[in-house]
Amino acid sequence: ASDANQKIDYVFKVVLIGDSAVGKSQILARFARDEFSLDSKATIGVEFQTRTLVIQHKSVKAQIWDTAGQERYRAVTSAYYRGAVGAMLVYDITKRQTFDHIPRWLEELRGHADKNIVIILIGNKSDLDDQRAVPTEDAKEFAQKEGLFFLETSALQATNVETAFLTVLTEIF
Ligand code: GTP
Ligand code: MG
Repeated sequence: ASDANQKIDYVFKVVLIGDSAVGKSQILARFARDEFSLDSKATIGVEFQTRTLVIQHKSVKAQIWDTAGQERYRAVTSAYYRGAVGAMLVYDITKRQTFDHIPRWLEELRGHADKNIVIILIGNKSDLDDQRAVPTEDAKEFAQKEGLFFLETSALQATNVETAFLTVLTEIF
């Protein structure tokens, strides 16, 4: 059904954050349109996409915001986080540095977002397991310590992308 003639019970804003090139925009493309591109360009400013889904018999419009990981292309921070009820904190399992930066992203998130925001840590590019630089256990431990949900995803293979969004949206509910 198209959004136009569908009754919407809730609109949930969810933000994607993390270093450049970890795959935020492709995770969103996979979730919103079931698409994936290998030559994805760096995001400039802010983009968002929506998808309406049914959760516990209610129609929920997920409004997913995506911004640049690169500092110089980033959106105004406070506006980006305003009204967000969920956040996806993304790193690349093949790039250790992107995981090492997660505490900084978490700090920014906690500094700007509502204190009840639901947060999931996501290790993306699980299809590149042969190039893995971040052990699953390290991320799991960090997530547990910080009280975050955690999943490894592959936007390329569509692994766990749906589950990651559903985890956040269901918990917000
Ligand atoms: P910024 O917009 O600069 O913050 O980057 P981003 O986090 O949005 O990264 P983007 O989605 O543009 O993806 C960066 C690169 O990683 C692209 O070449 C994607 O095709 C690739 N990529 C994204 N997800 C995956 C994945 O799950 N597996 C693999 N192998 N490549 C991926
Ligand atoms: Mg992007």
